[in-house]
Amino acid sequence: MCGIVAYIGHREACPIIIKGLRRLEYRGYDSAGVALLNGQLTVYKKKGKVADLEAFIGEQDTHAHIGMGHTRWATHGEPNDVNAHPHYSTSERIAIIHNGIIENYAALKQHLQQQGHVFHSDTDTEVFVNLIEEIQKQNSCTLEEAVRLALHEVVGAYAIVVLSKDNPGQLIAARKGSPLVIGVGEGEFFLASDATPIIEYTNEVVYVNDYELAIIRDGKLEIRSREDVVQTPYIQTLELELDRIEKGGYEHFMLKEIFEQPRSILDSMRGRLELEAGHLNMGGVRAYERKFVNADRILIVACGTSWHAGLVAEYLLEDLARIPVEVEYASEFRYRNPVITERDIVIAISQSGETADTLAAIELAKSRGATIFGICNVVGSSIARATDAGAYTHAGPEIGVASTKAFTAQVTVLTLLAMIVGHKRGTLSDTRLRELMVELSTIPAKVEKALLLNDQIEKIAETFKDVPNFLYLGRGYNFPVALEGALKLKEISYIHAEGYPAAEMKHGPIALIDENMPVVVIATKDSSYEKVVSNIQEVKARKGRIIAVVTEGDDVIPAMAEFTIEVPATSDVLMPLVSVVPLQLLSYHIAVLRGCNVDQPRNLAKSVTVE
Ligand code: AGP
Ligand code: GLU
Repeated sequence: MCGIVAYIGHREACPIIIKGLRRLEYRGYDSAGVALLNGQLTVYKKKGKVADLEAFIGEQDTHAHIGMGHTRWATHGEPNDVNAHPHYSTSERIAIIHNGIIENYAALKQHLQQQGHVFHSDTDTEVFVNLIEEIQKQNSCTLEEAVRLALHEVVGAYAIVVLSKDNPGQLIAARKGSPLVIGVGEGEFFLASDATPIIEYTNEVVYVNDYELAIIRDGKLEIRSREDVVQTPYIQTLELELDRIEKGGYEHFMLKEIFEQPRSILDSMRGRLELEAGHLNMGGVRAYERKFVNADRILIVACGTSWHAGLVAEYLLEDLARIPVEVEYASEFRYRNPVITERDIVIAISQSGETADTLAAIELAKSRGATIFGICNVVGSSIARATDAGAYTHAGPEIGVASTKAFTAQVTVLTLLAMIVGHKRGTLSDTRLRELMVELSTIPAKVEKALLLNDQIEKIAETFKDVPNFLYLGRGYNFPVALEGALKLKEISYIHAEGYPAAEMKHGPIALIDENMPVVVIATKDSSYEKVVSNIQEVKARKGRIIAVVTEGDDVIPAMAEFTIEVPATSDVLMPLVSVVPLQLLSYHIAVLRGCNVDQPRNLAKSVTVE
């Protein structure tokens, strides 16, 4: 959660930081703040969005070549001006920004209060900066030494940047568990939670590792371990285009990202699906091919939308490769003492590659000897680096907090994986593989066609924008899609919605159905079509309002449903890639009509780096 950004160099720091915060705002938007070092150490901070901070700073003199900024997703203490970062130490000579949670903050705070430190906020972060101050005082040491020693005392997760009035040309940063990237320019450095604020200045970056400190002074970057051993920074060149992180004429990032899906699905297949040559490639699988072929079981760990992609993968891998699969919420898996063996393959799915629960689930599985295969969107992210092998989804940066194109890119990669493994295991015949390859290659065009439904869906959204509840039903491959449709609606419109297996409805949720309940049924032509038609009858018999997503040309369901949305036909196996699109659009339009902040829904953050 939360975005941090910092600058040290020859340019004006404040505009770079503010612009960087705007790019990182998707990570948290409870409050925003900057600290500038220019002889003085000045902090400006404000509850609310980056725009509120800008208005607050107004015309004040912000001249400085060193500074840092923060956009908060509160964990400790409500979102208000005082709890906003940066936080000063008691003497106001040191300031900090922090992403993460300090778990032992209460004990540290008590101790520091006894030493005379005064606290103004409810945050765990303020403890960190006072701890640094106290250590520096006790040991009469340098700031760098004090930060390093403080890292030994804090328990939890952090990415921090520290500035001190007594060290006017220096910036210190450190990380454990929360992301931190350093952009390396000509005698200038840009620090941020991800590369998006950096790439317009430089594409040379260094990913800071856990338990490392970055010390920048005199135009030089030094990386040291927590044990004070100098590390060689590994400078990587990023290929990230600026126009991919801007709205490009769309009103919201979410809409842009929904419309980018034909391209992001294609990009995720590129170089992997070779139709003419007749084969499938996936670099990350090659080295572990035997492992996949001989696997007794695959475990999938993920959260939220990525978990829904994992559920699609369970159906795919069992169906095509005949390997038993278990899909686990990473947050449950990590604490429930699961059975994991060296023969297991664990697939971790994450858009951001920074989700703390997923990362912890990986560490647990690793400690039990399992092979970890990652499916991430963000190149160089913590999860991508923690896995044994993996495949990137080439969806491009996803900025909207509600995940859309990352989901379809994940499902694309997982489909390719299931096809490769199924074929190698002999459970997917040459003919069936060929059919699926041909069909998969048509999916970008089919998604393009589904996007033409936008205007029709906007009208449907008008009808339902004020309802308090929604039900989403699907079976087979469309069941995870029902869950995803409901999650999208909840997240951005704040309408309560539940996704359910269509046939399971009669074991409970059917009690909710009356003439006020909209029920979205994903009823495309597949092997459970007839059964879903019966489920629609059950809803209709109780006067529920049916919005059906059907296959083009369906002449049965339109007569039963209040609204029918027709999507292009495809194989059962690939249908989630198409049938999810109208549900994304429905939630988008309902949220817009309700006046909700679509890209930055309340209480949420794009990258959940706390457990
Ligand atoms: C999706 O719309 C959500 N905002 C959320 O559920 C998300 O999918 C989840 O937090 C997992 O994130 P990750 O893919 O970056 O790990
Ligand atoms: N735990 C800190 C706070 O609540 C930092 C949260 C964040 O990562 O934004 O202020």
